[in-house]
Amino acid sequence: MSLNRILLLSSLSAAALGLCAADFDAAKLPPASTQAGVTYEKDIKPLFERSCFKCHGAEKQKGKLRLDSLEATLKGGSNGPGFEKGASAKSTFVASVARLMSEDENMPPEGKGKPFSKEEIGLLRAWIDQGTK
Ligand code: HEC
Repeated sequence: MSLNRILLLSSLSAAALGLCAADFDAAKLPPASTQAGVTYEKDIKPLFERSCFKCHGAEKQKGKLRLDSLEATLKGGSNGPGFEKGASAKSTFVASVARLMSEDENMPPEGKGKPFSKEEIGLLRAWIDQGTK
């Protein structure tokens, strides 16, 4: 095989890996909050309103995602919701706000909104682990 062909193949597989990179280091996630009875309306929506509505609300829906209602959040964007009930440690949604994904997947984008604190990421995890009510 020519060197060019090897280079081409390896860049193609790197691109393919990049596209389905749901991989992040779950050990780096802040722990889930121990708060009981976490709900979207009471605990999560105000955080989304502060950091996400600008691009995922009534005016704009980047990635076809709206986070301004429970129903829309559960439906997710063009790639689905990014979380499964009960499994916050596997959630790419959580990894995005914890800034453990790639630069263009971390949310809010760098310099474009207030990032979640460790406590707020913990609350988001608890909401997912408690069944996204
Ligand atoms: C300044 C604008 C902006 C803000 C603020 C923002 N996002 Fe995004 N978001 C984007 C863009 C741009 C994309 C990529 C859309 C695409 O791939 O076409 C995106 C994509 C996403 C996706 C993937 C959607 C999909 O299915 O492809 C998720 C999940 C997400 N954002 C969550 C959040 C969360 C949670 C917040 C708040 C913590 C947030 N975003 C704040 C601009 C923003």
